[in-house]
Amino acid sequence: MPGTDKDRSNNQALLKWVEDMARLCNPDQVHWCDGSDQEYQRLCAQMVEAGTLIELNQDKRPGCYLAQSNPSDVARVENRTYVCSKDEKDAGPTNNWVDPAEMKKTMNGLFDGAMRGRTMYVVPFSMGPLGSHIAHIGVQLTDSPYVAASMKIMTRMGQQALDVLGDGAFVPCMHSVGAPLEPGQEDVSWPCNETKYIVQYPEERAIWSYGSGYGGNALLGKKCFSLRIASVMARDQGWLAEHMLILGLENPKGEKTYVAAAFPSACGKTNLAMLIPPEGFAGWKVSTVGDDIAWIKPGEDGRLYAINPEAGYFGVVPGTSSKTNPNAMEMMKSDTMFTNVALTDDGDVWWEGADGDPPEHLTDWKGNDWTPASETPAAHPNARFTCATTKCPSADPAWDDPAGVPISAFIFGGRLSHTFPLVYQSFDWEHGVYMAATMGSEATAAADNQAAIRRDPMAMLPFCGYNMADYWNHWLEIGKGLADPPKIFRVNWFRKDGDGKFIWPGFGENMRVLQWIVERAREEAEAAESPFGYQPRHQDINWTGLEFGAGDFDGIMDIERAGGAEEAEAQKELFDRFDDRLPPEMEAQRQALAERLQSAPEVWRVSG
Ligand code: GTP
Ligand code: SPV
Ligand code: MN
Repeated sequence: MPGTDKDRSNNQALLKWVEDMARLCNPDQVHWCDGSDQEYQRLCAQMVEAGTLIELNQDKRPGCYLAQSNPSDVARVENRTYVCSKDEKDAGPTNNWVDPAEMKKTMNGLFDGAMRGRTMYVVPFSMGPLGSHIAHIGVQLTDSPYVAASMKIMTRMGQQALDVLGDGAFVPCMHSVGAPLEPGQEDVSWPCNETKYIVQYPEERAIWSYGSGYGGNALLGKKCFSLRIASVMARDQGWLAEHMLILGLENPKGEKTYVAAAFPSACGKTNLAMLIPPEGFAGWKVSTVGDDIAWIKPGEDGRLYAINPEAGYFGVVPGTSSKTNPNAMEMMKSDTMFTNVALTDDGDVWWEGADGDPPEHLTDWKGNDWTPASETPAAHPNARFTCATTKCPSADPAWDDPAGVPISAFIFGGRLSHTFPLVYQSFDWEHGVYMAATMGSEATAAADNQAAIRRDPMAMLPFCGYNMADYWNHWLEIGKGLADPPKIFRVNWFRKDGDGKFIWPGFGENMRVLQWIVERAREEAEAAESPFGYQPRHQDINWTGLEFGAGDFDGIMDIERAGGAEEAEAQKELFDRFDDRLPPEMEAQRQALAERLQSAPEVWRVSG
């Protein structure tokens, strides 16, 4: 029976839990992570030895490694993700639910001896700046060195987190890849199990994850803690835990405005968070606080303050180039862990959408030979890079500020090829919550159904740890308590023309929309009133350096009465799922939209 390390912590609850879990999982040894660079290096060296990591060409990519996962373990598994509240109704109709007592029996069975032949890493971490009043401590137990090393990049991990914890409360995060080794059994490069469970117990604020070593399934500080468990803490304590990027925008006068934006997975949060303004925006600066998660608390001045609970990025790689995200390209030059991209013959990495032509020969993410004639992609579409925030060229000076940054606007955006304009603003907070709650999007890597549009309220469908209708109500309540609530916007970079091409150039050009949003938040810009909300007219947008005439603009801003009415009707299906838990404000807003559309022209155009 391996012992615990009494020198690391005097937290009796923690020591007992680690001991109990070691007894259950039966690892060969227990290693308490100190979070040092040396420890990270040792973990990586050991994984290179074991074949889990490939060390990349150190002249080209110093400090970089490549992991190629098991092809069955490449993304979050939403159909294996459970919110096990005591009452099924508290999980709501959008979460998978199993009775917690029953789930615990299943988990205890699966974890019994699950770490045999492996090391159990004790990974203490702070989500949020160490000691911030908005931050919280978690401790993950894992038998994956890849996860322990990733947590070092993604969080404030190690002894410092234990020091902040003292004898306080922590969120216990149990994780096993579910692949015990019998004596003499040879390991595989990416151990995992066909059976997967990602389980949250919201009342106990505990997480049990089994069978996967990938991303949000396994880096438990991310979606499991910072969204599913934290959303429940936020409900109980009067704050918000959101699937949002946070960025700062400084205008040429030196005035800084922070906004937070929610987009579903793989819909452009990382791109927007690291945006570089196009030529013609001299004096404007965009800076990054976070690209995936925001914890947001009301301050004493009646405003909302946000921190990024993470300390690194786990960003989508395919599609990243010096055109779409120069900052991410810069970060990936060194000290980066790549997962599921392709390997070049000279020990570099490649992915679809990278700069330049594809090489003549590659080893694809599955380890097979690949040439440009191959029919399958060289990199998995959900291939990711893991890299510390400190390496981000656009990191905001306040990214690690324990006080957080004041939020002036919330932006919500899905991937919608029709009906929805490039940008519009809500009439008020309540209307904005309704706009966010009814957001839809087309296809993501982790969703089961790749073809259909799905409703993704606040981009939180897979991440809200309680009944979604109660969550909408929580948003309404938060707004009521604010003296100066952020303005709320919807955006859509993905509207398509008759030929199926994106109308809007996007990426850096999204700066034009951001400028209007910030100026609206500061009450410096004009707008027209549409059935959907307030919309910029062509002359309200800064077009310096881009040819996009009033006619083009109409094409991406108009509202067809029939399409709008269909949308308002379709929202009823969403609302009907929540029975008596639906806040009446939501249905009232839906009906108000339907009425506005009834008296609208057949096609509402921003040019009048
Ligand atoms: P998660 O990390 O999964 O939560 O997602 P994310 O929102 O950070 O995803 P990411 O930024 O990596 O999204 C990448 C996808 O969005 C790629 O398919 C990009 O091509 C696409 N994308 C990002 N910005 C734009 C844009 O302005 N226009 C268009 N058309 N596509 C965009
Ligand atoms: C997402 O799917 O929204 C992600 C990636 O950000 S993961 O961390 O795997 O959840
Ligand atoms: Mn995400």
